Amino acid sequence: MTDHSCSRPITLHVNGLKYAGHAEPRVNLADFLRSDLKLTGTHVGCEHGVCGACTVLVDGYSARSCLMLAVQAQGSEIRTVEGLATDGVLDILQACFHKHHALQCGFCTAGILMSATELLAANSEPDESIVRDVLSGHICRCTGYQNIVAAILDAASQLRERASDAGNN
Ligand code: FES
Ligand code: FES
Repeated sequence: MTDHSCSRPITLHVNGLKYAGHAEPRVNLADFLRSDLKLTGTHVGCEHGVCGACTVLVDGYSARSCLMLAVQAQGSEIRTVEGLATDGVLDILQACFHKHHALQCGFCTAGILMSATELLAANSEPDESIVRDVLSGHICRCTGYQNIVAAILDAASQLRERASDAGNN
């Protein structure tokens, strides 16, 4: 039986599902997601806010989950990379990463996808410099970034087309 003597009650929504349980006050959100909720798509690299691998969305805004305590997420809506696809079908951004070969080892990819998701929700027509500005918060050791930029710009274009099609129907 789990000893909750040092733990705090915590309730949050992760990818639309409610979680109510306990978290130790010292546990960061990244470790909580990975160890307690078994959502291992969120990666941990530097553990001090530099590499961006651990980025998730908290109430719609990107956050370094290695720098946030799980208990600070009390009551929040968390979105992780596992929440992007629907019924196993990649979302447009993920599909564009696949199309443009925008990853190699994939270690940085979950964090980049979450920051790009935030960007595309706020700005339907980002230019390359804005995309590169967002990517400046992420360290990728494999790709050289060019294909990542291409994938995000392609996704922005496809999302605009979809919105336009929806508006015409
Ligand atoms: Fe959080 Fe690197 S693991 S920023
Ligand atoms: Fe390997 Fe980015 S794809 S670190």
